[in-house]
Amino acid sequence: MDILVVGSGGREHALCWAIADSPLTERLFCAPGNAGIAEIARTVDIDPMDFDGILGFCRSEAIDFVVVGPEAPLVAGLVDRLDAAGIKAFGPSAAGAVLEGSKAFTKELCAEVGIPTAAYERFTDLEAAAAHIQAMGAPIVVKADGLAAGKGAIVAEDVETAIQAAGEILGGRFGAAGAEIVIEEFLHGEEASFFALADGESVLPLATAQDHKRVGDGDTGPNTGGMGAYSPAPVMDDAMVEATMSRIIEPTIRAMAEKGRPFKGVLFAGLMINEAGPHLIEYNCRFGDPECQVLMARLRSDVLPALMATADGQLRNVDLRWRDDAAMVVVMAANGYPESYEKGSEIAGLGPAGELPGVTVFHAGTLRDDGRLLANGGRVLGVTASGADIEAARARAYEAVDIIDWPGGFCRRDIGARALRR
Ligand code: AMP
Ligand code: GLY
Repeated sequence: MDILVVGSGGREHALCWAIADSPLTERLFCAPGNAGIAEIARTVDIDPMDFDGILGFCRSEAIDFVVVGPEAPLVAGLVDRLDAAGIKAFGPSAAGAVLEGSKAFTKELCAEVGIPTAAYERFTDLEAAAAHIQAMGAPIVVKADGLAAGKGAIVAEDVETAIQAAGEILGGRFGAAGAEIVIEEFLHGEEASFFALADGESVLPLATAQDHKRVGDGDTGPNTGGMGAYSPAPVMDDAMVEATMSRIIEPTIRAMAEKGRPFKGVLFAGLMINEAGPHLIEYNCRFGDPECQVLMARLRSDVLPALMATADGQLRNVDLRWRDDAAMVVVMAANGYPESYEKGSEIAGLGPAGELPGVTVFHAGTLRDDGRLLANGGRVLGVTASGADIEAARARAYEAVDIIDWPGGFCRRDIGARALRR
């Protein structure tokens, strides 16, 4: 089969890496891809939001199956366009992707079906928002309603910071995504990322994972798209997975079907786990980045039939097998990320790093220029390692990180610390 993966991040590199390994794959393309993806797939220079360009490419190359990585084209209806053209694709329709595209929609759905989540209120007016923040007190969470690349939530430790954040978001810091804000009760506990494939009806949980959202060691500094992840997540024992499926994921998939918005794709629940069990922080309608990198590293089964069964409504026939090994990914980002950073610094040493046993270096924002590898984004590399347990995977991942020669980049040195403390 001929496959097109849409996207250009570490998540898409990991998907391409797994799909390239499938005996079903004949030709593999990625639009637009990155320098690492170009080593295993043919990259085509089409923007994920250029739906006409993607459709035209699928027709001219007779693509059999499209896998859409990022949320923006899903929320904007790329899979609907492909569907209408008779091209099979992995990912939800726009009607399903609203679970990520609108926090307000998801919050209403949670209220309707009784999914445990933080209490919230919506505001478009700063004065009303400020009054609510004063009344609630801190800590409190202020979020842009729309898509903001994982950076649209501010966890404020005091009332002044919360009001300032509300003013900045309503003032346009995240563009139209912040025309409306959501103010949420602060949930304490430990975060986990939960993934399940859903074909509109049936649901199949994937391996568990945890991410590190903050930019700095010890979970300090601003939120990012994710600075590192590992799988399995010790906090997600069998009972917690069971509770998450029965209290959160299954009711959501049922409710979406009843609303005429069947969700087909990977449902990614950001969870807060505390003594009362799992609480939903937010839904995403796609794989996590960098969680996808560790899931693909641990997946023993062929990924492609599972993705196709998800699209075909045949998930009940799928059973995925996972390696007993743990996996960890350490993200290397350009100095300055998630604030402003420079592009174009040179990266060396990836060859020897990738030759360490169990290590794969996934690329995110990279570019090849005259044979030199250059940084071309905020998050640039996902150094991924497998090992008998989290400790072993971590030792290998940092051994590889230390071989990579990139003065223009940095990483957190404490990925996995929370899991190892347990
Ligand atoms: P979101 O954009 O909703 O994914 O939020 C980004 C991050 O902010 C989450 O991963 C949490 O670390 C934190 N966060 C969001 N909402 C809450 C909440 N209600 N209570 C505590 N932390 C939260
Ligand atoms: N790593 C979190 C996300 O992909 O949103």
